[in-house]
Parts: sequence; C-alpha cells; structure tokens
Amino acid sequence: MNKMITIKIATKKDLKELIRLRFLAHQYSAKFDKEVVITDNTQGELTKLVEKELEDPRIIYFLACKNNHAVGIAILSISEEIDQTAFLGELFVEEKYRNQKIGTQLIKETIRIVRKRGLKVLRVTVAKKNKKAQLFYSKLKFHPKERNYILLEKKL
Ligand SMILES: CC(C)(COP(=O)(O)OP(=O)(O)OC[C@H]1O[C@@H](n2cnc3c(N)ncnc32)[C@H](O)[C@@H]1OP(=O)(O)O)[C@@H](O)C(=O)NCCC(=O)NCCS
Repeated sequence: MNKMITIKIATKKDLKELIRLRFLAHQYSAKFDKEVVITDNTQGELTKLVEKELEDPRIIYFLACKNNHAVGIAILSISEEIDQTAFLGELFVEEKYRNQKIGTQLIKETIRIVRKRGLKVLRVTVAKKNKKAQLFYSKLKFHPKERNYILLEKKL
C-alpha cells in the first residue's frame, strides 16, 4: 500500500493543494485552540501565507501524495543561523488516509532533510488536548522536553 505513497517537496505548482490541506489543518487546530478561528477571510489569508512561505528559503513544504493525489502536508522551518534546531510547524494527513503510515513517511522525509542540513534537533509543539498526535509522535521517539522557561504573552 505504501508503494503508492510519494513524499515530495512542494512547489508553486502545488499551490491549490497546499492551500486546501492547510485549510483542513487549520480547521483541525481550531478544535484544540480557541484562538484559532475560521472566518470568511481564512482562505484568503492562508493563500497569501502559503504564497509567501513558498518564496522563503527557510521554509520547506512537503506533500504526501497517494496515486498522485495530495493527502498530507508537513511544513518545516530551518534557520541554521540561529541554532541547530529545525521546527515542524504543521503536520496533517487527511482523515480518510490516516493510519496508513503517511504521517510517519512525512516525518521520516523531514528528518532526512534536516539531517542533510547538518541540524541536530527537530522540534514540534502539540496541543495538550491533542492526545492522538502525542501518541503518534511518541511512537516516532519524540519526547516531551521540560523547558526552563514558560510562554508569556500580552494582549495588544
Ligand atoms: C497525527 C497524524 C499526522 C498521524 O498521521 P497518520 O498517517 O495517521 O499516522 P501513521 O499511520 O503514520 O501512524 C504512526 C503510528 O502512530 C499511531 N497513531 C497515529 N494516529 C493515532 C491515533 N489517532 N491514535 C493513536 N495512535 C495513533 C499509529 O498507531 C501508528 O502506530 P503503529 O506504528 O504502531 O501502527 C494524523 O493523525 C493527523 O493528520 N492528525 C490531525 C492533525 C494533527 O493532529 N497533527 C499533528 C499536530 S502537530
């Protein structure tokens, strides 16, 4: 079954599919984070964001395709200048394609590229309530990291 899955680095040609998957990922995040909202502008804002990020050399969009149909996305940020850490900003597989190791393949390809760049750590944040994703990452040997800082913010 996995033979039909390919993971590729996306380009502008994939814009429509990237926006579609980002929108679905955004909808999914809204389930866990009340600050993530879907409005009439969300589609347009995501379109601008994806277009901008595709031009950014620090950001890599991976697409998982099954029989040439895009079914999953991973978004990686790399900024070598700052530290030895890469950040996975988004990982999403369409619901009906889950549990077919597509997420695993996206992570493996992401790790391959991160290693190739000489970086040592891949970091991801997961909503506390998203237990399923925590189990998924734990199977791939991602471990929770206690930090000596907390996240602070000020409403403006
Ligand atoms: C998390 C996600 C990307 C996993 O992708 P996937 O293709 O379904 O995962 P895989 O088939 O590669 O699963 C790998 C392992 O994780 C486990 N796993 C995956 N989804 C799980 C779930 N819902 N509950 C428990 N374990 C799960 C699988 O059991 C599998 O273990 P196995 O090797 O023992 O069979 C996918 O469920 C998803 O898109 N979820 C919604 C978005 C999300 O939560 N993203 C992560 C937030 S950063």
